[in-house]
Amino acid sequence: MPFNLKGRSFLTLRDFTPQEIGYLLGLSEELKKAKYIGTEKKNLKGKNVALIFEKPSTRTRCAFVVACIDQGAHGEYLGKGDIQLGKKESVEDTAKVLGRMFDGIEFRGFKHETAELLALHSGVPVWNGLTDLYHPTQVLADFLTIKERIGYLKGIAFAYVGDGRNNVANSLMIGAAKMGLDFRVVTPKELFPAEELVAYCRQEAAQTGASVTVTDNIKSGVKGCHVLYTDVWVSMGEEDLYDQRIKLLRDYQVNMDMIRATGRENCIFLHCLPAFHDTNTTTGKEIFEKYGLKEMEVTDEVFRSKHSAVFDEAENRVHTIKAVMVATL
Ligand code: CP
Ligand code: NVA
Repeated sequence: MPFNLKGRSFLTLRDFTPQEIGYLLGLSEELKKAKYIGTEKKNLKGKNVALIFEKPSTRTRCAFVVACIDQGAHGEYLGKGDIQLGKKESVEDTAKVLGRMFDGIEFRGFKHETAELLALHSGVPVWNGLTDLYHPTQVLADFLTIKERIGYLKGIAFAYVGDGRNNVANSLMIGAAKMGLDFRVVTPKELFPAEELVAYCRQEAAQTGASVTVTDNIKSGVKGCHVLYTDVWVSMGEEDLYDQRIKLLRDYQVNMDMIRATGRENCIFLHCLPAFHDTNTTTGKEIFEKYGLKEMEVTDEVFRSKHSAVFDEAENRVHTIKAVMVATL
């Protein structure tokens, strides 16, 4: 089936059909192969891309920059404090200006509404590089990694364990419902995802053969899973919530017992990163001093084990983000 995603924004997977998501994954595979064997073409020659980052980033920023360079585009990084965006100039006016100069805009920030306003007023494709609500480009990389490791997505039993209502969990649930996965959110009741989102995902799931389970029961939640996924317990912008989250999520740490509880010898561990799996970070040290925890959402043992595919997953951010730009520009 021919696909034309030209001119489309990529704000949430809600806006994309299973076929379109499948197409983006296929294109990512092709672009990855082309880069590896040295046959990559510069499909974005002469394009200019704005990269707006209100929040810090390693993978997303680098993936956009490398993808731009590989494809012949210029990516202009606009960090926190570099532009007025909402402070001394409205998001609407900023969008109108950027749309006159750039062919596409990446936005990472707080309010999802800002990404929507940029898309509404700029007249060019806007790509969500993470908002408080969604992280859709992450899910493409996660699904590409599963396809590479296991070969398919439909029917994969996938447990997201941890903060069940953050941007990554939300986007994974939408993607899983659209791509036919047996998806479980394993999280305490206090962190159950929004009911509206679960209802939407179940509606999508009914058409694709997927299932969406929300449970606080770890044992049943992870049983039979091909993939265990976790994310930080405290997302960017929520830094005052460590006390509450550590109390709620201590038992939800991904450790070797949890891997064994899947009953699958080859269970894959995924994490969008960055991860708190040791005390080799300033925050990790502070948490250790305050709470006595050396590891948080995942143990160092699992992170470094044969189960872990987190660095394949990180690399796949570049191939999938490249596919999104190539498809929409
Ligand atoms: N996974 C992810 O989005 O990483 P960064 O915050 O480093 O971009
Ligand atoms: N949920 C995390 C994802 C980081 C890539 C956050 O928003 O901080």
